[in-house]
Amino acid sequence: MSEERYLTFALGKGRLANKTLELLEEIGITCEEMKDKSSRKLIFVNEELKLRFFLAKGPDVPTYVEYGAADIGVVGRDTILEENRNVYEVLDLGFGKCRMCVCGPESAKELLQHHERIRVASKYPNIAKDYFYNKKHQTVDIIKLNGSVELGPLVELSDVIVDIVETGSTLRENGLEVLEEVCPLSARMIVNPVSMQMDSERIRNLVTKIRAKLEEQ
Ligand code: PRP
Repeated sequence: MSEERYLTFALGKGRLANKTLELLEEIGITCEEMKDKSSRKLIFVNEELKLRFFLAKGPDVPTYVEYGAADIGVVGRDTILEENRNVYEVLDLGFGKCRMCVCGPESAKELLQHHERIRVASKYPNIAKDYFYNKKHQTVDIIKLNGSVELGPLVELSDVIVDIVETGSTLRENGLEVLEEVCPLSARMIVNPVSMQMDSERIRNLVTKIRAKLEEQ
């Protein structure tokens, strides 16, 4: 019965989706339709394997998975932590590695040490709040931005930022540095809790195959 059902994947658009498709291809799961870059289609189907795929904005992936519109999602751990949805995180895919950090000018180090009431700009207000309130026990004002967060301290909107650091070049080129590390990040596979029960065998098989492939690498 469960073999009849399509298993639906929501993939975070961009690099993560491309990497995920490469990985799936290595375990024999392909979706030819998705390779046609000129296509405006939103949902791609592999009839033979009864799989469906769609691309979504990263922060929407946990939403699709929580509501069961997708059984499986692939998205960065940053988004999972920020969105805090009811989903199971089943696998660390190992790619998209970077760090969530508190960054700012060197002079801001002192403000962090002395637990001053500072302004923190971030695209990730929930992660920033959790870090400062629950881990550091420091009261701060959080300012939500939607991108180019490094501007915060440069134009004196904020004292520090909480943001993703990959190579560190954005920080370096703007005279900022990592002041504290919040947590490591990478791409994760998430699953809807009901799908996990209904399609337990198919999903477990898939996770086992992917894990084995990752261990080979
Ligand atoms: C991300 C992040 C940093 C930058 C870090 O921004 O927010 O700005 O990449 O990468 P680096 O350490 O290799 O320099 P993104 O390019 O996604 O754009 P955004 O600023 O609009 O969020």
